[in-house]
Amino acid sequence: MRKPLVAGNWKMNNPIESSKILLENILHQAELLESMLAKDGKASALDIAIFPPSVYLKETQEILTGSSLHWGTQNVSAYDEGAYTGEISASMLQGFGCDYVLIGHSERRCIYETLELDQFVLDKIVAQKYEMATSHGLTPIICIGETEEDYAKGKTEEVIARLLDVLIESKGSKALAQTVFAYEPVWAIGTGKSATPEWAQDVHSFMRERIAKHDATTAESLRIIYGGSVNANNAAAIFSKPDVDGGLIGGASLDVDKFIQICFAAALKPNKI
Ligand code: PGA
Repeated sequence: MRKPLVAGNWKMNNPIESSKILLENILHQAELLESMLAKDGKASALDIAIFPPSVYLKETQEILTGSSLHWGTQNVSAYDEGAYTGEISASMLQGFGCDYVLIGHSERRCIYETLELDQFVLDKIVAQKYEMATSHGLTPIICIGETEEDYAKGKTEEVIARLLDVLIESKGSKALAQTVFAYEPVWAIGTGKSATPEWAQDVHSFMRERIAKHDATTAESLRIIYGGSVNANNAAAIFSKPDVDGGLIGGASLDVDKFIQICFAAALKPNKI
């Protein structure tokens, strides 16, 4: 059975003091939600993970240790150690109790795109980061999605297949069992223009089928979450689709009430397999 995952990507928002208060509030509300679900016989109905700015990891660890919430970072280095100014390695993240790491978020890709790197090279960098994360016991959440231009040209499946193939080639399909994918159409991120539940379902099912060609068991068990303008109003409809296993939430994760409502929608997902 795939357990839904709701991940809050805080990006580069909020000073430390208000971030601590937000985290404490999320923890409190998540615990209330958990006990309510437990009374309803739905204990452990979902995983929740928070991705604060990396400089807040120590405080995040202090607040969340001992709770059922997970945490991680918004990026990781493709290298283990050395002269990589400004980078943070997977082994360093282990020291802060991280379980997850976001890899290949489109807002990271944009930074490289200004250097006019080929998309295939970017996929290779994602594969290197994926290798680093998994070899240090971190669960990668690999972001994947088409730009507005690719969407308009009907290239969604091509873009997604290219990255999936690079990952399968680099580590084999079995390794994907420890991976979460986040389908994030770039045109939906931070725009208020979410994909329809049907569109998300079609793309998620395409991804699962593509992986199933190599390994049907892995394809069936891995989680594929959706990201891009998920909010408290559209979450239930998006999560109701059979291949959507939760969400990667940006803007709405900075508001405790909205974020918890989204978590609630995921916990009530009707058709978990
Ligand atoms: P959004 O961001 O929810 O604000 O669209 C999603 C993301 O960037 O992961």
